[in-house]
Amino acid sequence: MGEVITVTSGKGGVGKSTLSANLAVGLAHAGKKVVAVDFDIGLRNLDMILGLENRIVYDVIDVMEGRCNLSQALIHDKRAKNLYFLPASQTSDKNVLDREKVAKLLADLKKEFDIIILDSPAGIESGFEHSIFMADRALIVSTPDVSAVRDADRVIGIIDAKSEKAKAGEEVQKHVVINRIKQDMVDKGQMLSVEDVLSILALPLIGIIPEDQNIITSTNEGEPIFYSEKSPAAQAYKNIAGRVLGEDIPFMDITEKKGILKRIFG
Ligand SMILES: Nc1ncnc2c1ncn2[C@@H]1O[C@H](COP(=O)(O)OP(=O)(O)OP(=O)(O)O)[C@@H](O)[C@H]1O
Ligand SMILES: [Mg+2]
Repeated sequence: MGEVITVTSGKGGVGKSTLSANLAVGLAHAGKKVVAVDFDIGLRNLDMILGLENRIVYDVIDVMEGRCNLSQALIHDKRAKNLYFLPASQTSDKNVLDREKVAKLLADLKKEFDIIILDSPAGIESGFEHSIFMADRALIVSTPDVSAVRDADRVIGIIDAKSEKAKAGEEVQKHVVINRIKQDMVDKGQMLSVEDVLSILALPLIGIIPEDQNIITSTNEGEPIFYSEKSPAAQAYKNIAGRVLGEDIPFMDITEKKGILKRIFG
């Protein structure tokens, strides 16, 4: 049975879709059979990051509504042979997801794939709930700023309340990913440090992704940054994929630096 990993955040625009795409590529390269599912109904963009937008015929809602079968909708990524993609629908009706249909879809995907990555929409509305209730694991993405961290904290509080796993007495594994760290700003005390963020969120860290301008070009070109070996972010995504698979990969040693909170509170 496959594992459902939901990538979520609370605040929008913090890097969920970029992480979902690159993590999916990384896990597929590590030999896992992976499907990345875009649950951001109405605002699809995981397809762009993966460079698969031109190959979309059917979407996740078509599958759930029975307008096509799963294999008709799944897009096989030609660069990573173990990677498949299920696009979001462009409908403006955000309430189109139905709990039972989502459960059925994920149960079907779990039979076929080792890992199912769900890219969740921003916010804590129904789209978020549908992306979290079947999760075995959640990666909570935050940028190092107070509003993103606060929203991430809120989401962490809601995950267990909404999850089937928690209802069954188990816990959804939760990990923090800190995105867009600028070390020079942390050093000057102008940006929250990794340590600051973790002291608020109180969950294990699974990745630190530096600010990397190459990501913008790679998204525009539809070539996930994972493939740009010299990019600092590519290594970060690779490390996250390794840690998801249980490898013990050391973090870049920036957690020791004094952050804003430490400067203020000593
Ligand atoms: N580490 C990074 N360095 C530089 N730019 C980044 C980084 N991570 C993400 N971005 C950029 O930030 C923007 C938002 O990223 P992304 O779409 O992945 O966020 P999101 O959380 O999925 O947003 P939404 O909530 O709208 O779905 C994109 O333009 C992306 O290229
Ligand atoms: Mg997104």
